[in-house]
Amino acid sequence: MSNPAGYRNDIDFSDMRHFADGPPYALFDQLRERAPVSWSDAPAAWPAAEGSGYWNLVCAADIAEVMRDSERFSSWRGGITIPSYAVGSLESVRAMMIGKDPPEHTAQRKVVMTAFTQRQMTELEGSVRENVRKVINEVIETGHCDFVAAISGPLPMSMVADLLGVPEDDRADLFRWTDAIVGFNDPDSPMSPADALAQASDYMVKLDAERQREPRDDLVTVIGQAEVDGHRLSAEDRAGLFIQLFAAGVDTTRATLALGMEALIRHPEQRRKLIDRPDLIPAAVEEINRWVSVVLYMKRTATRDTEIGGQRVREGDAIVCWQAAANRDPAFIPDPYRFDVERRGCSHMAFGGGGRHICLGSSLARLELRLAIEQVLRRMPDMALDGPVLRTPANWLQNIKSMPVRFTPGRRE
Ligand code: HEM
Repeated sequence: MSNPAGYRNDIDFSDMRHFADGPPYALFDQLRERAPVSWSDAPAAWPAAEGSGYWNLVCAADIAEVMRDSERFSSWRGGITIPSYAVGSLESVRAMMIGKDPPEHTAQRKVVMTAFTQRQMTELEGSVRENVRKVINEVIETGHCDFVAAISGPLPMSMVADLLGVPEDDRADLFRWTDAIVGFNDPDSPMSPADALAQASDYMVKLDAERQREPRDDLVTVIGQAEVDGHRLSAEDRAGLFIQLFAAGVDTTRATLALGMEALIRHPEQRRKLIDRPDLIPAAVEEINRWVSVVLYMKRTATRDTEIGGQRVREGDAIVCWQAAANRDPAFIPDPYRFDVERRGCSHMAFGGGGRHICLGSSLARLELRLAIEQVLRRMPDMALDGPVLRTPANWLQNIKSMPVRFTPGRRE
C-alpha cells in the first residue's frame, strides 16, 4: 500500500547494521514507547510487487493477536519474510508448511504432528543423550573447541537427519543447502537461497522416491505413506515439508544452544545455580529461548482492511511481528532484561505467538537443549569464552558462526 496513515519510523530493518550485535532491543523499546505499531518504508531496491513498506509490531499482545488469526493475517499471501523472496522465492516459501494457510496448512500439519508427539520425544531421549555424549567426547580431552562447530552444530543436524532418515554421506550437503536457505542475510554464503532450495528439493524428491520403493523406519517413509482425510500429500509437498523440517530444525537449535551457553558463561551466578541444581534446567531452557530469541520475526499479510493496536491497516499490508521485541516487552515479561534461570512459568514467543504455525519441533528443540546443557554443565563446568563470538548480522534468524571456548580437559564417557 502507499501513504499509510500512522507513525512512520524511518528505520530500515533490512539494513543489517542494526543487527550487528543481535536483535536491536533498544530500537524496539523506543518504538514500543513511541508507536507500538509503526510503518517502515521499503528500501528503494525492493521491487514494486513488495509494496511500499511494512508495519512493525513490537508489543507482545499485538503480535499474539496477529499470529493467532490466520484468517485476517495470511502466511501464504506474502510469505513470512521481508522481502517475500528472501528465502529464495515466494513460491518456494508457499511450498513449505510455514508458508501455507488453512485448509492446506491444517492438512499438512496433521501429518507431521503424528511424528512429533510427546511420546515420540520420550522415545527419542536416549538417542539425543547419546548424540550429546558423542559430540562432547570428540573434544573433552583437548580442553578447547569451537562450540558451534563441535557441539551446537552437529547435535541438531544429526537429530533431524536421524529422524528423517538421511544417510550419513548426504548430511553435509543438506546442511550446506539449508544453511544457505535460512542464512539469506549472510553476504559470505557460498550459494544463493534459490540455488540451495533447488538442490535440496531435487535431493528430497530422490530420497522420497527411494523410500516409496523401499520403506524404512524413518520420517520420510512415514510422511510418504500418510493419508490426511483420505488424501496423500503430493511428492512436491512432501519435498517442501522435508526441507522445512531440516531448515527449521537445525540452524535454530544450533544458534539457541550456542547463545544460551554464551549467556550462561556471561552470567556465572546463573550457571552456578544450574550446576548445583540440574533440576532447574528445564525452566532454564525456557528462559534461554526467551533470552536468545533466535527467530527475530515472522511476517503476515492482512487479508482485509482491519485494525491492530488501534492502527488501521489495509488489505495487502505486510505486518512484521517482532517476536524478539515481544520477548523484551515489560507488559509480557516482568523485568525482561534480567536473565534469570529460575523465572517461573516463563511464557515467551521464541516458538511463535501461539497461532496455528507455532513451532512444530519445539519439544524436540527443548529436549536437545535440556540434554546438551545438562551434559555440558556436568562435564565442562568451567567453560569460558576463548575468543570473540562471531555472528553474521541477520534480521530474521540469528546466525552464529563460531564461539571459541576453553575448559578443563576431562575424560571421554
Ligand atoms: C530453538 C529451536 C527452535 C526455535 C526457536 C523455533 C522457532 C520457530 C518459529 C518462531 C516458528 C514459526 C511460528 C509461527 O509462525 O507461529 C517455527 C515453525 C516451525 N518449526 Fe521451529 N523452532 C525451533 C526448532 C525446531 C525444530 C527442532 C524443528 C523440527 C525438526 C522445527 C520445526 C518447525 C516447523 C515444521 C515449523 C512450521 C510449523 C507450521 O508452519 O505449522 N523447529 N519454529
